[in-house]
Amino acid sequence: MHSDILIKNGHIIDPSQDIDVVGDILIENGKIIELRVKSSESGVKDNSKLKTQNSKLKIIDATGLSVLPGLVDMHVHLREPGFDYKETIKTGTMAAVKGGITSVCCMPNTNPVNDNETVTEFILRKTYAEGACYVYPVGAITKGQKGEELAEMGMMKDAGCVAFSDDGRPVMSSLIMRRALEYSKAFNVPVISHCEDMNLSEGGVVNEGRLSAQMGLKGIPSASEDVMVARDIILAELTGGRLHIAHVSTEGSVRLIRQAKERGVNVTAETCPHYFTITEDSVKGYNTNAKVNPPLRTQKDVEAIIKGLKDGTIDAIATDHAPHHRDEKLQEFDKAPSGISGFETALSLSLRLVYEGILTMSQLVEKMALVPARILGIDAGTLKVGFDADIAIVDMNKEFKVESEKFLSKGKNTPFEGWTLKGMPVITICKGKVYDWRIDE
Ligand code: DOR
Repeated sequence: MHSDILIKNGHIIDPSQDIDVVGDILIENGKIIELRVKSSESGVKDNSKLKTQNSKLKIIDATGLSVLPGLVDMHVHLREPGFDYKETIKTGTMAAVKGGITSVCCMPNTNPVNDNETVTEFILRKTYAEGACYVYPVGAITKGQKGEELAEMGMMKDAGCVAFSDDGRPVMSSLIMRRALEYSKAFNVPVISHCEDMNLSEGGVVNEGRLSAQMGLKGIPSASEDVMVARDIILAELTGGRLHIAHVSTEGSVRLIRQAKERGVNVTAETCPHYFTITEDSVKGYNTNAKVNPPLRTQKDVEAIIKGLKDGTIDAIATDHAPHHRDEKLQEFDKAPSGISGFETALSLSLRLVYEGILTMSQLVEKMALVPARILGIDAGTLKVGFDADIAIVDMNKEFKVESEKFLSKGKNTPFEGWTLKGMPVITICKGKVYDWRIDE
C-alpha cells in the first residue's frame, strides 16, 4: 500500500526541468503528481495549490534540506547469483537506497555469468521479490565473459538488459568488440567497456610507478587503460555504435575521450568517486581495501578526472560498488580481490566537488541521476510529474564518520574508513516506501 506523501519546503534540484529552488512535491500511489515551486525563477509554472486535504497524507518537512531525484548508479556489482556471501540483491539494494540511489545497473560477472535470458530473468524476479530499489541488469558481451563468442544480446535485451559489458574483464578481441558495437547500434543499447589491455596489465595489482617499485608489487601502467580507450573509440567511429567507457582512471583516457567527443564520436564515460578523491598512496601499508581495478592512480590523474568532470568530458559518476568478503580482503595484497564497497559513501564523496566549487549541485545531480538514466534509456533521474517518486532528501550540512561496520552492504571494504564526510541522504523514497535514516541514529 502506497501512502500519499507531501514533501514540503525542500530545496528542489532537478536539472531535467531546470529547477533549483524551494518548493513542495506531492506524491500519490508512488508517483509524483504535483510539483510546486515557490518562485518562478526556474521557468516552471507556480502551479495551482497543492491538493493537501487528504487526511492520510504523510507530510515530510524538508525545510533546510535538498530534494533530489533518486540517484541512478549505472555500474554496480550485486553478486547474485553465485556470490551471496559477498552481497545479495536484498542487501545491495538496501545499501544503495541508504546512499540515496534508487536505480542500479548490475554487472554480469556473477556465477553463472549473466550471458543469457534465464539469468537476466532470475535477477529481475529476485529484484521484484526482494529489491529495495530498481535493478537494471547489464548482459555480458561474450558468453561466460570469456571474450571468445558473442552472447545473445538481442534475447537478453528482450529479457530486460539495458546495456552490455564484460565488466571485470576486457573484450580483448577487437573483432568481437567491433561486432558488439555494431549490435549496440542495431539494438540501440550502450556497450560499457572495461578498458584494460591484459597483456599490459597481466599480474599487476597497483598503479605502475615509483610506489609499485617501492612496495615490490607488479604495476598496471596507465597505458593498459589508454590503449583500450583509444581502440574502442576507433571502433565506435568505425561502427557508429554506442560506446560507454567504464570507470575512467587515467589522464590519458580523459584526453582521448575529450578529443573523440570533439570529433563527434558517439562515446560517453563514467568515473567513480575513488578516482577523483584518492590516489595510489591509499594502498600504502598494503591496504587491500584500496585495491581496485583499474587501480588508484596519481594526483595528476585525479586532477585530470576532475577537469574532465567539470568540462563535460566525463558524463556520469557511478560507484562500481564491488563488495567482497572480509576474509578475501584479509589475504595478502597480491591475492586479495579488487573492489570498493561504494554505495554508502558515493554521494557524500561526490558532494566534495560541489563544496569545492568544481560542480554546481545541479551538475552533480546530472552526473549521478539524469545523464546515466538517459544513457541507459530508463525512466528515472527526474522529478517530473507523472514519474515514479524516486527521491533522495539530503542534508547538505550533516557530517558523519564513515564506519563500515554500519554499512547495510555486506561489503565493508572501503578505503574511506574513519573519514569525516559532509552531506548525506536523510530520507530516501523508492517504490512508494519512505526510508527515514534519521530514525536509526
Ligand atoms: O575493482 C573492481 N572490482 N573492478 C572490476 O572491474 C570488477 C570489480 C568486481 O567485480 O569486484
